[in-house]
Amino acid sequence: VKIPGSTVLLTGATGGIGQAISRALAARGAELILTGRRGEQLAELALALGARTIPADLSVRADVDDLIEQAGRVDILISNAALPASGSLASFTAEEIDRALEVNVRAPLVLANALTPAMLERREGHLLFMSSLAGRAGSTRTSIYNASKFALRGFASGLRAELHGTGVGVSAVFPGFIRDAGMFADSGATLPRGVRTRSPQDVARAVIGAVEHNRGEVDVAPLSLRLGAVLGTLAPDTAAAMSRRLGAEEIGRAFEDGQRTKR
Ligand SMILES: NC(=O)c1ccc[n+]([C@@H]2O[C@H](COP(=O)([O-])OP(=O)(O)OC[C@H]3O[C@@H](n4cnc5c(N)ncnc54)[C@H](OP(=O)(O)O)[C@@H]3O)[C@@H](O)[C@H]2O)c1
Repeated sequence: VKIPGSTVLLTGATGGIGQAISRALAARGAELILTGRRGEQLAELALALGARTIPADLSVRADVDDLIEQAGRVDILISNAALPASGSLASFTAEEIDRALEVNVRAPLVLANALTPAMLERREGHLLFMSSLAGRAGSTRTSIYNASKFALRGFASGLRAELHGTGVGVSAVFPGFIRDAGMFADSGATLPRGVRTRSPQDVARAVIGAVEHNRGEVDVAPLSLRLGAVLGTLAPDTAAAMSRRLGAEEIGRAFEDGQRTKR
């Protein structure tokens, strides 16, 4: 799908990666509808980018319905909002698990469900889901986040098969560790030496490329991490042993501590 002139609904626009995606889409000539909970950040983005904004809490089902209604015609959906949902399983309440699933999984599926019929009628549109390398391989103290990101990967893959040939494209994007802004940078966690990061702008470029060229799956991570994720699928126990040796436990603890306020 061509981005110039298309109406793009972007969730998680107020976050570190979402702001970079917003700017990249605006520079490409998209008509933006930005959403998130934080009204002030939304207002700033609206002013800077000439975007429409619709504040919504995606853990509240009525807000998801209102968002769909207020958005109206959407040519491209970019489901980017998520909670980090990190921490040992035992540290979660059932309510926190619900919230993680509502925001990270239910909202993207319900938005896609509501917006796809009109795209199919027009025989044009695109749906993009922000997964993570955590949606390819699990790691300690991120099991709920892993569950939500594996879910998005499965959904995007199934839907892409279903919509093949209809003119409506589907993509999933898989960032590794992103520096400067966003949930990893905000956590304050440090990586073992030699583990490289990518920037929010790299993710934004990947999103634009995925939409414009209808790419099914796009990783935004250095080769070493991408290979680690592949190994996690082919030989999960070997991959887990390797990541234990590389300090996965420490990173998991740093996420648990640094991201607790985002549950
Ligand atoms: N940063 C990384 O290293 C990294 C790596 C892999 C994948 N990702 C993925 O990239 C995407 C963006 O993450 P980020 O790094 O930009 O994180 P972030 O800075 O924490 O931003 C998260 C975004 O999600 C929105 N959000 C959270 N809870 C919400 C709720 N209940 N209702 C509505 N919106 C909600 C936030 O908006 P409000 O606070 O305004 O509600 C914010 O815009 C996520 O899907 C994340 O899983 C990030």
